[in-house]
This record gives sequence, structure tokens and C-alpha cells, in this order.
Amino acid sequence: MTITTDTPTAPVESAAIEEFAGRMLGVFNDSALCLLLSVGHQTGLFDTMATLSPSTSVEIAAAAGLHERYVREWLDGVTAGRVVEHDPARSTYWLPAEHAACLTTAAGPGNFARMMQLVPLLAQVESDVVRCFTEGGGVGYEGFPRFHALMNEDSTATHDAGLIDAVVPAVPGLHDRLTAGAAVADVGCGSGHAVNLLARAYPASRFVGFDFAAEAIDAARAEAVAWGLDNAEFVVRDIAELGVSEEYDVVTAFDAIHDQAHPARVLAQVATALKPGGTFLMVDIKASSHVHENIDQPGSTFLYTVSLMHCMTVSLAQGGDGLGTAWGRQTAERMLAEAGFNHVEVREVAHDMFNSYYVATRS
Ligand SMILES: C[S@@+](CC[C@H](N)C(=O)[O-])C[C@H]1O[C@@H](n2cnc3c(N)ncnc32)[C@H](O)[C@@H]1O
Repeated sequence: MTITTDTPTAPVESAAIEEFAGRMLGVFNDSALCLLLSVGHQTGLFDTMATLSPSTSVEIAAAAGLHERYVREWLDGVTAGRVVEHDPARSTYWLPAEHAACLTTAAGPGNFARMMQLVPLLAQVESDVVRCFTEGGGVGYEGFPRFHALMNEDSTATHDAGLIDAVVPAVPGLHDRLTAGAAVADVGCGSGHAVNLLARAYPASRFVGFDFAAEAIDAARAEAVAWGLDNAEFVVRDIAELGVSEEYDVVTAFDAIHDQAHPARVLAQVATALKPGGTFLMVDIKASSHVHENIDQPGSTFLYTVSLMHCMTVSLAQGGDGLGTAWGRQTAERMLAEAGFNHVEVREVAHDMFNSYYVATRS
């Protein structure tokens, strides 16, 4: 049946309405499941269930050290969400091994339960972002109390999986340079795990991480001390005002350019900070600069959402450009060229599906 509306001229297909409504119901239900998955990660329930044979809610709660009533309600929710299996006759629940492979700490960067935490993190600022639609401006980092902890958890999983074994070999000459002894800076280092991993693997090189968040720098320093590193230093600094010239052989930026207030200024500072022949490794979100080319990419809706509700808005909150998470390859290559990097290669690594690896040099 075709219904015709008063105003728009296109006829409305009732079958298409039904199909879309079904999809919206799925979105509504799955967004609730997202919260249950996030809770399952934070309470350790997925890691616990991965070690158990079919068990009752009492047994699972005891193994996880949690209150049974909460665990039972959560178990029924994830059963309804077809994440956990349930035997009503025995009142038991279990996590199939195939699901555990995607929802536990052992899954490393592929732990979707860890990623789910990002949605409630963004939801915390929903009313502030709604206000920005009418009032303008942005929501600053102070609106995201758990940001640095979650960012660290997320990037630790990725860096542990392949920074040394996959990323370093993907950058021509980097392993040899670091082995011989290089001066390296990481801009927007956050909690510094990448710097500390590199410093541990390459003791002849010296590393410095810059970030303007004191909380993140404190965490980075604590890890360096715990690991006994004497070649990793962390400095609280605005990287748009880095102010150093020809000091580093290598500069890295892990997901730290697209949310800058002044990304062009930062790229120019990086170019100036590199010694002649130096290399800039810019790891940033894998996307096209054009939405129509991103539609079929996995996670593309999330990219625009995290941009709207974090990366773009923190930039605008500082009076910045609001570049956006999905600034994309075309804009990134143009901006790198404008900063003076006349040779850019874009690489991908298997363990990191969300990022492109830009290897940028100047001649
Ligand atoms: C998306 S996080 C990435 C952190 C880290 N590189 C990682 O991969 O875990 C971006 C980081 O850039 C930092 N940042 C943003 N603008 C900055 C600026 N102008 N100067 C220094 N740090 C900045 C933030 O504090 C945050 O730690």
C-alpha cells in the first residue's frame, strides 16, 4: 500500500515504514544491551563467566564477589540480549566461548565489552551538548571525568597488541633508528602507555610525552616509575605552543590531532620540532573526509557520535576549530602538506581497525 503525505511530494511506502520502525526498535533494544555489556566489563562478570561452566546466579555472584540480586537481573538482561545462554530447568547461565572471545580482557583490542563503556561516557554530557546546539560553544574535558581512564584502557589494549611488533616495523627505518638511539616526542600522550612501551623496548632512545592534562601526565609518570624507566619523561604542555626547533628524530601522535583546538598550529609545531630528515608518525581515525564514503564503514555512526559528543565539542569549548573525529584522509593529507610534510604514506595495521598510520616526512 502507498500512502501519500500532504507536503513532501514523494509517496510514502508503508512497507518501508514498517521496516524502518523495526530497525528503530532494534536500535532501542540494542542500545540498552550496550549498557549491560559495559556493566559486565566493569564488574568483571564476563571475565569471571569465561572461567565457569554453566552456573547459577548464586554461583556466578560468589565467583565474581558481587551481590546476587544485581547479578541475576544482569544475567537475565544479557540472556534476553542473546549474549549469555540460559537453561531454565537448571537455572544456569553460561557464556559461549565464541562470545567470550569478543567480550573479555583476553580479547585485547577486540574486547567489545570494553568499548561499550564509551557510549555511557558520552551520554553523561548529552544535556550539555544539546544546549550547545542553541547556545554554541562546547563541552570541555572537565565534563568527562572518566575520559583519561577509559582512553588509557582502550589505547593500552591496542598498543599492547601491536605497537612494538606491528607499528614500529610498519614505519620505514624506525626500528633501526630507535635501536641506535633517537630523540622521540609523543604529542598528546595521554596516560603515556605508548611512550613507556617504546622506552622499555628501546633503551638507547630518549622519549618525552607532552599532554596538557596533569591527571594523564601523573598516570604516565607513575607507570614509568613502576617500570623503572630512566629514558621516559612526561611534561604538562600545550602542544599548540610546543616551542622547540629541530630537537626530535621522531614525533608520534596517537589519536591526538583530530580533537585539537588548533590542529594546523600543532602540525606546524611538530614540523618545526623535527630534525631535518625526521619522521612524524600520525595515528588518527581511519575515515574518508566525505560522509557518503563512510556510510558502509563499520563503526561510522559511532565516529560521528564520539565527534559530536567529545572530540569536536572539546575543541569548540577551547574556542577551537572543531575539526571532528571523521576529518578523514583527504583533509589529513592536505593539512600535513600545508604543515610542510611533502611526503606522506598511509599504512594500516591488522590489530587496529579504527586508525590509519600516516608516515610523514619533509625533504
Ligand atoms: C584522544 S586522547 C589520546 C591520548 C593518547 N595519545 C592515547 O592514545 O591514549 C587526546 C589527548 O590529547 C590531549 N590534548 C588535546 N589537546 C591538547 C593540547 N593542545 N596540548 C596537549 N595535549 C592535548 C588530551 O588531553 C588527550 O590526552
